[in-house]
Amino acid sequence: MGKLDGKVAVITGSGRGIGRATAVLFAQEGASVVVNDIDPVPAEEAVKEIEAEGGKAVACVANITKADEAQRLMDTAVEKFGKLDILVNNAGITRDAMIHKITDAQWDIVVDICLRGAFNCIRAASKYMMQEGHNGTIINTSSAVGLMGNIGQINYASAKAGLIGMTKTVAREWARFGINCNAVAWGVVDTRLTKEKETGEEVAGEKVGIPKKIRDQFVAQMGGQILQPEDAAKVVLFLASDDARFITGDVLNVSGGWYI
Ligand SMILES: NC(=O)c1ccc[n+]([C@@H]2O[C@H](COP(=O)([O-])OP(=O)(O)OC[C@H]3O[C@@H](n4cnc5c(N)ncnc54)[C@H](O)[C@@H]3O)[C@@H](O)[C@H]2O)c1
Repeated sequence: MGKLDGKVAVITGSGRGIGRATAVLFAQEGASVVVNDIDPVPAEEAVKEIEAEGGKAVACVANITKADEAQRLMDTAVEKFGKLDILVNNAGITRDAMIHKITDAQWDIVVDICLRGAFNCIRAASKYMMQEGHNGTIINTSSAVGLMGNIGQINYASAKAGLIGMTKTVAREWARFGINCNAVAWGVVDTRLTKEKETGEEVAGEKVGIPKKIRDQFVAQMGGQILQPEDAAKVVLFLASDDARFITGDVLNVSGGWYI
């Protein structure tokens, strides 16, 4: 028996990182998963990984900042698997800059993907989730940075804090449909967004990552450990499962002591 047997989940940005690990774990626990990403190659790879283990998944390449693409994503869940039980708003990006130097473009891309993208998906999901006795769940991906602020992340902190207000509003409005909505606030999880910036990857035309000196300090604050995407996925699984049915409108701080 899997914890998500018979459930249908959409996970945004699940071609890589935390979303990918969540998609794989959800499928292992019996869910049919719509793997969304803006990048087709990692989305298809994630589906192959799930299918190779005998799980059910389909890729849906869509840019969640566009309302029509977010709608197509939710429609895909229903067309392929007959319903929509779980929405994990995971897609996100960083564009770090100090307040006096940040550009409009750096502000816009982060707020657009992290905040508007989640809103687009929730509004699109309303078509299928706003039904009496639906018993679905929505998990939004915030950050410890949304709770405590962070130097060089005015855009990201604002978007991730905004997601908390969004989470509480969805929890209030949709409780009557049996839907719970929570946010998870990660600390530093080992993905391309948090590698050492000096040797890091470019995402949408800009290098992401954390300068080594600062990253080392963060890791020290977490007792020398860094959360792996597979560890993070277990927390998302808990929130998506019946075990968390009575938790709603909450923010789970999963930062290993980075934010207390
Ligand atoms: N890694 C961390 O330490 C950390 C900490 C706090 C919060 N988070 C949040 O966790 C989430 C996952 O981050 P990650 O570290 O796994 O990053 P990641 O870059 O490994 O994965 C994010 C995925 O989202 C996809 N994506 C980006 N824009 C998209 C769009 N417009 N539409 C669809 N897909 C899109 C990317 O292509 C990528 O595959 C993000 O919301 C991030 O802000 C991460």
